[in-house]
Amino acid sequence: MIGVFDSGYGGLTILEPIRRTLPQYDYLYLGDNARAPYGTRSFQVIYEYTLQAVNYLFEQGCRLVILACNTASAKALRTIQMHDINPDTHRVLGVIRPTVESVFADNQLQERHIGILATQGTVSSQSYVIELKKQWSQRFPTLSLDHLHISQQACPMWVPLIESGEYKETGADYFVNKYLTSLLEQDPLIDTILLACTHYPLLQKKIQDTLLTYLGKRPIPTLIAQGQIVADSLKDYLLRHPEIEADCTKSGRCTFLTTEQADKFTSSASVFLTAPIEAQQVEFHA
Ligand code: DGL
Repeated sequence: MIGVFDSGYGGLTILEPIRRTLPQYDYLYLGDNARAPYGTRSFQVIYEYTLQAVNYLFEQGCRLVILACNTASAKALRTIQMHDINPDTHRVLGVIRPTVESVFADNQLQERHIGILATQGTVSSQSYVIELKKQWSQRFPTLSLDHLHISQQACPMWVPLIESGEYKETGADYFVNKYLTSLLEQDPLIDTILLACTHYPLLQKKIQDTLLTYLGKRPIPTLIAQGQIVADSLKDYLLRHPEIEADCTKSGRCTFLTTEQADKFTSSASVFLTAPIEAQQVEFHA
C-alpha cells in the first residue's frame, strides 16, 4: 500500500490524480481531521502529529508515505527523513520539491514573479522561498537571483472554510478577495501563483473569478495546483526505485481513514471525489 497523509480533506486533491495516474496500486488515505488545521500550529506540534500519522501508516503496511500536505512537508518532512525512519525499509515523500520543479520545467530563462498562497506554517518555514532559490540557481546559474521575485501570503481562514464545508458560500468570497489582494499588492507583476496548500484547489474557481475581477484586462497569472504534479512525480519515483515499487501491493483498492467521525468524513469527502467512499475512524495513541 501507498500511504497518503494530510491534516484533513486537502490531500484528497492529491490522491485523486494519483489514483487516476497510477490506478493499479492500493492506497491508504489518512486525514487527521480531528486536529486540523495544522497551518497555525507550532513546528513541534506539526512534527509530532505528522510523525504519529506516518508511523501509523507504516504499521498498517505502507512502505511509502506521501505527505499530501504542504505544512507537514515544510515543517516535518526533513526531520522525519533524517531522524525517524530507516530508508532501507521505509520512505516518506513531500510535495514541495516537485511543485517547484514544475514552476521552472519550461527552462525559460526570463525574469519571474512568483506568488505563493499557503498556510501560516508553510509561509513562516520559508520552505518554498528556499527551494525556489535553490532550483533557480541550479537551472539558471548565469542568471542572478535578483531576477526571481517571490511574494508569500498566508491564508489562515481558507482551510477552516474548507474543512467546515463553507467554502462554496458567498461568505468565503471576502477571504478569497482579502488574501489575493494582499498578494497582488506585494507584487502586481506576479506571473505564477502557487496554490501551496492541498486544500486550496477547492477554492480554485473563486480564486480564478476574483483574479479576473481584480485584474480586469491585465494578464491573469498562471495558477498552479499540485495534484497532477505530485502524481507524475510519484510515477517517476516508482520507476526510479523498483525495489520500493515491488513492495507496493496492486489491487487498485483505496481505504480512507480519519481521526474524526467516519460519517462526517464520508459525506464531506464525496464532494472532492468522483466516486462514493466509506471512511473508518481511527484513534491515535501517543
Ligand atoms: N492541506 C495542508 C497543506 O497543504 C494543511 C492545511 C492545514 O491543516 O492547515 O498545507
